[in-house]
Order: sequence, then C-alpha cells, then structure tokens
Amino acid sequence: MKGLILSGGAGTRLRPITHTSAKQLIPVANKPVLFYGIEALKSAQITDIGIIVGDTKEEIKSACQDGTKWGVKITYIEQEAPLGLAHAVKISQDFIKDEPFVMYLGDNLVKDGVTQFVEEFKSKSPNALILLANVEHPEQFGVAELDENGKIKRLVEKPKQPKSNLALVGVYLFDSNIFNAVNSIKPSWRNELEITDAIQYLVEQNFDVQPHIITGWWKDTGKLEDMLEANRIILETLQHKIEGFVDNNSNIEGKVVIEEQAQVINSTIRGPVIIGQGTKIINSYVGPFTSIYYNVNIRNSEIEHSIILENTSISDIGVRIEDTLVGKDVEIIKSQHKPKAYRFMLGDGSKVGIV
Ligand code: TTP
Repeated sequence: MKGLILSGGAGTRLRPITHTSAKQLIPVANKPVLFYGIEALKSAQITDIGIIVGDTKEEIKSACQDGTKWGVKITYIEQEAPLGLAHAVKISQDFIKDEPFVMYLGDNLVKDGVTQFVEEFKSKSPNALILLANVEHPEQFGVAELDENGKIKRLVEKPKQPKSNLALVGVYLFDSNIFNAVNSIKPSWRNELEITDAIQYLVEQNFDVQPHIITGWWKDTGKLEDMLEANRIILETLQHKIEGFVDNNSNIEGKVVIEEQAQVINSTIRGPVIIGQGTKIINSYVGPFTSIYYNVNIRNSEIEHSIILENTSISDIGVRIEDTLVGKDVEIIKSQHKPKAYRFMLGDGSKVGIV
C-alpha cells in the first residue's frame, strides 16, 4: 500500500501566515503538522509516500527531504494550482499505479493514527474506506448521508442544510478504481475537482464504499481555533522533560518541556507548555497550552494558549497575550518612541485585537 499526503492548497483560512509559509509546517507542540501525518503512515508500515506540493514546495521539500529521517521514501508530486483534492489524486496516478493507497490531508491530525484503518481496509478489501466523525458544524465539511443499513447514500461538500452531522475526516483509503472516478467527474462551482464527487461516483457505480465512524480525536487544523485546539490536545500528551537551563528564580509548574539550549530566567512556566531550542524566556509568564518554537525571545511579558514560531521577539507587553498564532521573525515590542501610539506593519489579512 502507498501513501499520498496532500500538502499543496491555498490555505486562505490561515492568512497571513500562509502568504509566505506552508500551513502544513506550522508546528503543533513544536512539531510541524505534516510530520504527524508522515509518522502515522510509517506506523502503519506505509513507507512509499507521495507528497502533493504547490506554491510552498521548496519549504516542504526542505523540511521533509527524501524521508530518510522517518525511514520512508518520499516522492514529490507538483500540482500546478489547488484544483481540488480529487485533482491531487488524478495527478498522482503515475506514482500510485494500481496499488491501493491511503490519502491523508497534510493539515489534519488523527490522534490514534491510521494503522487500524489500514488493517480494516486490508481485511475487508472494499474499493474505498472513508472515515466519518460527528461534528458540531457539518456545514463546514464534506458530509455523508447514510441509509438505514449504515451504507453511504450521498456525500455533499459543505452543504447549506446538512442531512447528518457526519463529516468526512481527512483520511481516505482507496483502490485504483478511484482513478476512474476522478477522471469522470467535472469541476464543482468553485472550480475544484471534489473528492466528495469522486466518492459519490463510486457509490453510484455500485463500488463497495464503506464508512467507518471514528470516535477518537481528529482535527483539521486549517483554521486558527482548530490549530490552537490541536496544540492543546497534543501538549497534554507530552512527557515532562527539562533539557534547557532554568534558573533558581523561576517556577516550573505542571507538565513542561524545555528543549536543549532554551533558557528560563526569573519566570513562571505553567504547563502544559513546550519551549523550543535556543528560546529565552526572561522575567515572563508562559501559561497553559502554549508552544514556543526555536530561538524566540520573550521578555517582561505574559503569554498563554498560543503558538509562537521561530525567531520571534516579544518584549515589555503590558497585557497578557492569549489565543494567538505568531509567525516567524515577528517583533512585538513596547516602543519608547513619542507620541505614544500603536505602530504596526501587518501582512494582508492579519487580525489584531487591542485592549
Ligand atoms: P483544504 O484545507 O481543504 O484547502 P486549502 O489548503 O486550499 O485551505 P483553505 O480552504 O483555507 O483555502 O485542503 C486540505 C489539504 O489538502 C491541505 O493540506 C491542502 C491540500 N490540498 C492540496 O494539496 N491540493 C488542493 O488542490 C487542495 C484544495 C488542497
């Protein structure tokens, strides 16, 4: 069995971060989201993995390379534009050939991995196995309608009036009949080849499409709130580990990971928290559910329930920062300049909340 991870896309819901960076490389508990997917496939013994890449291909390639660090072989498949999940499948036929495969959306996290579903696919040999989860807002997802026997009746992409609250999870298992489907369907109103239409095609052609309703935790990290939730859930699973330096004037409370060469000086860290390599926390408070990546400086500030990316500096901020995602190389500092004023240089689509 092969693996296909979709790591192209537009990422409009995570702008402005995605103007310059791949959303799949945003670290959740200091590990890029995409790496969780690669690890999940590897745990299921899937080592021949294709990764769909788009505009951010260089960044993805430099982060994952040839896959040796996970013991897998990665082949990059370039998609000229984000023309839909089924389009990504269509352009992967040369790579997949006639093997069955797991398609995994590169911004999704499935806490219990995919091994169980791979086993189920192998033992039942359907043409497709799709995972469904009960969600609160099905209108934001591909939604499945099942019949009285629990078989799939209909799939609809982001329906205005959903017929169920069963959303398609970003992991799909297919045999090569999916290529007939993606080659037969037409683009939707948003000009994308929709995977829901391709699966619907299989259903209508009487192929065996089996649903599996999952109960474990799963998250599509395509929006800020979901990214922060994923960060919360994964931080809870980390083991307490202090490898960096903590001075005697600091308090470390709860489950905290302080990576090598990080420094905590005269500060309180209340877990679950992870502080990355080379980061300095000085005269500050870092509260629960915060992940701070590499070489960040936090000085005279308070931060909680947030994700901060590498090389960012935050200093002398008088109000606690919460529910925040800060990109790379950002400066948030108290300015000494007069007149007293907020001064910003923000990317398109930035969001700032001021008190
Ligand atoms: P989505 O999150 O559905 O789409 P998107 O990345 O374009 O984001 P947004 O809706 O915020 O604009 O995509 C799910 C995953 O599939 C994600 O990792 C990107 C990837 N993808 C592709 O590789 N090719 C595509 O054509 C599309 C639409 C998505």
